[in-house]
Amino acid sequence: MGFWRTIRSDIDAVFENDPAARGWFEVIFTYSGLHAIWAHRVAHFFYRRRLFSMARIISQVSRFFTGIEIHPGARIGRKLFIDHGMGVVIGETCEIGDEVIIYQGVTLGGTGKEKGKRHPTIGNRVVIASGAKVLGSFSVGDHSNIGANSVVLREVPPNSTVVGIPGRIVKRNGKRIEDRLDHTNLPDPLIETFRFMQKEINELKAEIDRLKPKADSVESEPVSVPAYDKKRS
Ligand SMILES: CC(C)(COP(=O)(O)OP(=O)(O)OC[C@H]1O[C@@H](n2cnc3c(N)ncnc32)[C@H](O)[C@@H]1OP(=O)(O)O)[C@@H](O)C(=O)NCCC(=O)NCCS
Repeated sequence: MGFWRTIRSDIDAVFENDPAARGWFEVIFTYSGLHAIWAHRVAHFFYRRRLFSMARIISQVSRFFTGIEIHPGARIGRKLFIDHGMGVVIGETCEIGDEVIIYQGVTLGGTGKEKGKRHPTIGNRVVIASGAKVLGSFSVGDHSNIGANSVVLREVPPNSTVVGIPGRIVKRNGKRIEDRLDHTNLPDPLIETFRFMQKEINELKAEIDRLKPKADSVESEPVSVPAYDKKRS
């Protein structure tokens, strides 16, 4: 995609995602997320040409003015929208797909235990809500939502909603996932055993009832008792 078309699509992303965006002038001059993305595109240009210091300087100057730190090595797709922006950190080996929304305070970082690729890969049309931390070199699938203040440490399949610390999937393909412990209805192993025994007894009773008519129909042979012979005794 050409330079001007990229700039245009970055601005379009603001209008598509922020109902508060009023006009071009305001968007171009006051949206710090947009400034950080543009600065990153320049920094990434130098990074790819191995001018690392130059790239880092641009990135740090941008951070000073916007409060958003994007490492020049990060790969960012089309129409990324960073709303509010302050406190966003995006690591060096992070990859971000198209039409992603990131709110303030988001970290796309490493755990500190990995080498090489150590930051997440974010799919297309992912929403990462304010304060969320996505840490490690796994992927977040397309169309997923990461809830505010979650700490995500594992792969997220596409079309999922992840919330909490550590992040757990609460919705997938629009359906709720019931994996929460219901503290008011904890399982009782004794009651479960009695229920199992009662079920066995009922089955055995039914089996006996089923066999009974057959047993009644079998005619028993009369037992012949030899007569008592007084003479022999
Ligand atoms: C996660 C989010 C994107 C919504 O995704 P969604 O797929 O529509 O999910 P839902 O709203 O249906 O919520 C699913 C469940 O997760 C819970 N949940 C949602 N966000 C949560 C969060 N951040 N922490 C804990 N639980 C959360 C909901 O209460 C709901 O639980 P329930 O099923 O028991 O009712 C949204 O809740 C969110 O965090 N938005 C924040 C946007 C933001 O950062 N705004 C700042 C603007 S300045």
